[in-house]
Amino acid sequence: MKINQASFVMSNQDVKKCPNSNIPEYAFIGRSNVGKSSLINMLTGRKSLAKTSGKPGKTQLINHFLINKEWHLVDLPGYGYAKVSKSSKAKFQKFITNYFLQRRQLVTGFVLVDIRHEPQKIDTEFMEWLGENGIPFSIIFTKADKLKDSQIEKNVEQYRQVLLDGVWEEFPPYFVTSATKSTGRDEVLAYINEINKS
Ligand code: GTP
Ligand code: MG
Repeated sequence: MKINQASFVMSNQDVKKCPNSNIPEYAFIGRSNVGKSSLINMLTGRKSLAKTSGKPGKTQLINHFLINKEWHLVDLPGYGYAKVSKSSKAKFQKFITNYFLQRRQLVTGFVLVDIRHEPQKIDTEFMEWLGENGIPFSIIFTKADKLKDSQIEKNVEQYRQVLLDGVWEEFPPYFVTSATKSTGRDEVLAYINEINKS
């Protein structure tokens, strides 16, 4: 898919105030600092469409971007960083869970995980929560430029094992990406395009 147009639409903390249209929507979620905003800039080919930072907790709102006047891309705040995360109830901020539970335009979520790390409980718990609520998702491994190909394969395999040993019968669709090298860009965009056309 060629990205001809990408523009910021709005930011807010309330799913009820999100754009009221029937445009299909794709949301990017994951731990703080995993690279959600960077991935969005890489996918859209716009360097600073979404704000990025080396410090976790940069994105604080639900941010809608309109792509090719056809679909919405949504940048969400990270989970698992805010001080409130100590309480397991507040681990995934309420407005984020409300977004996933109530946003009827949402086609699929992309759960981002850092390819360098072993599967973390907070991520697998979030995936389980999505599953329990019937919300489709794919996994996007980020920061692949930091590892050798052989190590990337090992880490994906480890992820697969952990999910299949847990509640999952199938490993979800997944993508290996790097925002700095644009790895995985064509694959993610082709995946979105396929769903939009179907
Ligand atoms: P929050 O909004 O704080 O939840 O973070 P985020 O998930 O949006 O992460 P963001 O895109 O702001 O990136 C966090 C840091 O990781 C920044 O310093 C980025 O430059 C870096 N980063 C993101 N993606 C990549 C990548 O693919 N490769 C490398 N090497 N660094 C990356
Ligand atoms: Mg961000």
